[in-house]
Amino acid sequence: MALFRFVFISALLVLAKSEFPIDYSLDLDIESFDTRNDDQAYRLPEDLDPEHADIEITPYFDSDTTPPGKEQFTFDGIATLRIRAVKDNLTSVIVQENVREIQTVTLMDIDTGEFLHYGNETTSFERIREYHFLKVNLKDGATLRIGRLYKLHVVYIGNINETPLSRGMFRGYYRDQNNYVRWYSATHLQPTHSRQLFPSFDEPGFKSTFNIVVNRPIRFTETYSNMPLVNVTTIGDRVKEVFQTTPRMSAYLISIHISDGFTVIAEYNNPQKPYRIIARPTASGQGRYAMAVGPPLTEWFDNYFGINYYDMADGLKNDQLASPFWASGATENWGLVTYRELRLLNDENETNALDRMYIGTITAHELAHKWFGNLITCRWWDNVWINEGFASYFEYFGMDGIAKSMDLEDQFIIMYLQSALSADASPNTRALRHTVNSPTQVTGHFTGISYSKGASFLLMLKHMVTEETFKKALHLFLIDRAYQYATPEDLFLAFQNATDQDNIVIDGLDIISFMTTWVDQPGYPLLNVDVNMNTGLMNLTQERFYINENTAPTNETWPLPLTFTSGKDLNWDNLNVSRVMTSRTAQIQKEPGHDWVIFNVQQRGIYRVNYDTHTWEMIASTLNSNHNAIHHINRAQIVDDIFALMRSGKITFQLGFHVLEFLKKDTSYYSWYPALTGFNWIRNRFLHMPDVLAEFDAILYKYLDAVITNVLYFAPSNELLTNSLNRIFVLSFACNIGHPGCVADAVEQFRRFNAQPSVPVHPNLRRHVFCTGLREGTYENWQAINNRMRNSNNQADELAMLRALGCTNDYRAVEDFMNMVVSDDIKAQDKVNAITWLLAGNRNNSASFLEFLKAGDNVQKIRQAVILPASFNTVLSTLASYLDVEGLNEMERWLNENQQAVPEFNVGLSAINSARANQQWGTDKARNILEAVRDSSSVLVPSIMLVLSTMIALMLK
Ligand SMILES: *[C@@H]1O[C@H](CO)[C@@H](O)[C@H](O)[C@H]1NC(C)=O
Ligand SMILES: *[C@@H]1O[C@H](CO)[C@@H](O)[C@H](O)[C@H]1NC(C)=O
Ligand SMILES: *[C@@H]1O[C@H](CO)[C@@H](O)[C@H](O)[C@H]1NC(C)=O
Ligand SMILES: *[C@@H]1O[C@H](CO)[C@@H](O)[C@H](O)[C@H]1NC(C)=O
Repeated sequence: MALFRFVFISALLVLAKSEFPIDYSLDLDIESFDTRNDDQAYRLPEDLDPEHADIEITPYFDSDTTPPGKEQFTFDGIATLRIRAVKDNLTSVIVQENVREIQTVTLMDIDTGEFLHYGNETTSFERIREYHFLKVNLKDGATLRIGRLYKLHVVYIGNINETPLSRGMFRGYYRDQNNYVRWYSATHLQPTHSRQLFPSFDEPGFKSTFNIVVNRPIRFTETYSNMPLVNVTTIGDRVKEVFQTTPRMSAYLISIHISDGFTVIAEYNNPQKPYRIIARPTASGQGRYAMAVGPPLTEWFDNYFGINYYDMADGLKNDQLASPFWASGATENWGLVTYRELRLLNDENETNALDRMYIGTITAHELAHKWFGNLITCRWWDNVWINEGFASYFEYFGMDGIAKSMDLEDQFIIMYLQSALSADASPNTRALRHTVNSPTQVTGHFTGISYSKGASFLLMLKHMVTEETFKKALHLFLIDRAYQYATPEDLFLAFQNATDQDNIVIDGLDIISFMTTWVDQPGYPLLNVDVNMNTGLMNLTQERFYINENTAPTNETWPLPLTFTSGKDLNWDNLNVSRVMTSRTAQIQKEPGHDWVIFNVQQRGIYRVNYDTHTWEMIASTLNSNHNAIHHINRAQIVDDIFALMRSGKITFQLGFHVLEFLKKDTSYYSWYPALTGFNWIRNRFLHMPDVLAEFDAILYKYLDAVITNVLYFAPSNELLTNSLNRIFVLSFACNIGHPGCVADAVEQFRRFNAQPSVPVHPNLRRHVFCTGLREGTYENWQAINNRMRNSNNQADELAMLRALGCTNDYRAVEDFMNMVVSDDIKAQDKVNAITWLLAGNRNNSASFLEFLKAGDNVQKIRQAVILPASFNTVLSTLASYLDVEGLNEMERWLNENQQAVPEFNVGLSAINSARANQQWGTDKARNILEAVRDSSSVLVPSIMLVLSTMIALMLK
């Protein structure tokens, strides 16, 4: 799946850009971090091989489609599973189910026709609710025999859940031209929700073929499922729709979309390679961009992997469906990928460049899953990175294959590799392979590490073995494990075979041990480089990098692919790895002489680099005199590393800000993307000190002047995507911190728009113009934007407006906003984001939000509105991160006095502690930081040292 890009714990980053830097699942739960990892009780025994399943669903929606005796928003289900015993003498059969009601269960020997279950069909089973097990006991003396086939037949009732956040089968709706509600239901079964649709073998390692049958209400339109329809018959007021048999696949990949009106809005006229965009009919015209990228991407993957998509199964289609309601970004169901509308539908006049980019990259992510995820599948979710790491890698590199101008190869570094470095720097991070058992733990492993570190690991590996050999290894892996499950060891072996065949030898390294270390060891290293300018000898040491300076050092090592270039012998394009550092220390001899070196060329390796002070000074002086002398990706690396090194106490603020001084001239998107994150992180620790904040902001304005002059306050047509993105992020940040030029321009654009609403604001400018306009504006302005949101027909635009509504300063507007959050006006999937946008949008809103939370039974309303307990935890944590000193005291008092009403009070109290620790950090460091930034170009001592040593170096020549 593609996670909805959303900031979770680090809500403070929202100010700059809420999509980055880390993908966090909405479902991330505290329990996922617990240590009860050895609880295997949730896992199915591997006694049985489910060869095939027939599933028949009869759904009931509104009163028109629900006959007497049936309940609205439920479905009748019949599941018939053909299973083969792979062990002898079994006396029971266990499958997973979490349906509403089990009615009858029978178990039969297929050859003899003998019924084997104990008792009659209503007493033959036990439901073990805690583990979602359905256990069928065999009658006395009966056992299953290895190799024989059995039929398990279950009649049951399922729920059509109210919101997508419950997954399984859930309902949604859209309003048609006449404003009538049109219902639909969709399924979202990944990762542990097949059991809500039918009694199943709900683990990725079990694969079956499936026949799906749906009895839809006669006035509904065609149902969509993984495979094409093969038979349609009308029976009374229902239409029986029979779908073709699926390929052998995991149960979570099933998809069924039953609707009153969804239709094909774009399609590819090639019967051999069908490709369709399906959506509510009122979205017609918004499928063109998705349609333009999908077929070329499929072809690119066909060629890259050497396996054609349409050959994977008889009659395989390639539908992409836009669902107004969806819990994540998108889900890779075979033959019918489902997306949140935001991630599939583009309106050229309403959707901004960032959201449009995601339509392309997320399509690439989901299509790549057809090979990595569907054709081969991780055996169990402990290795979900085998699915998600590959999909995330090809999200960028697949899309890059068909659209070079989007610069996605370079964007990968700042968006994925650097976010992996950020997610993986604490002592309690996990390895790519990480034991999980319960559904909550499983969901908790669908996070930054599996996506961003998984993908970055693959990039690093590609540069180790060359792209040709990388491709070959992937092909071998896919062919070897097609239609089966795969383990990391299968992947390692494929790489060994490919490197053997291609005679790839990398510094005597064993590729399997290289891969094993990176997969099984949490964290990543910091490479320390100490250059002796006289001899040219470089002393290297590696240590595990921890972001917090108080974390005690540990002594892991990694096999570290080394690349470097030097000021004297520049080469930014040689990314081949000739040396792998396998021990704690190493030495490399370069030409003697007074020049700088930079390691990790174009940041292809998962590590940070720190240099001796003198080398840093030389890098700083090069950057300050001519930043283009250093490759833009290494400038991005330096910015990101410098902020991390300052935070972790590895370098001083004096030195760090001296290096960063070049940002006052550099306008590159790649330098500024990590810079905004870094500046914002520090700035958020000054919020409780108005004087410090004011001085820091004034200095930031100076940093921003050049880049703002470069990105402009308007959006020229036909510019590079990265220019558009740079403008979106830089101006949002600049206006948020009150940059006078940015605010004045935004207010003026907002005024013009209010005077003449028929002249729209360019979608790429809406984020900061509407937010700033509403922050400075009136309640009436707020109501106007709210109306505009309600009338929008494009989800990206709708969410841009919702985000801006959170910037208001008006208490009435805040109240209206919160009443929308607790009502149906804001979709369940958007509620937590809405609250975050309210808190991030305007500093005064945290106090207003706390007042709202305390009033009446609002706390219960919000808890219910966000559906998942983990989401309410996020709300409490986000609130704490924005409150000032008095606000935190007030929140603490309220939580202590309302422990009954707020069972999550402990989460709230610990968020208050973190918020206070953040403030304390700011208080402790403020003086040092201000001194360092005040005039970072006049750092005296090191500069003099630099001059002196330059002279010495010259004398030595
Ligand atoms: C299964 O039961 C049969 C008959 O009692 C016995 O011969 C056989 O050894 C048993 N197999 C296993 C694996 O226990
Ligand atoms: C099944 O067995 C139970 C318990 O013996 C009995 O109460 C019930 O009536 C039986 N149902 C059918 C359909 O025979
Ligand atoms: C379609 O379904 C009907 C009713 O179940 C059945 O009579 C008919 O034979 C089926 N046709 C095909 C081609 O399978
Ligand atoms: C976008 O705006 C242009 C200019 O107003 C208009 O011609 C075009 O039809 C619009 N496109 C859509 C999809 O509405």
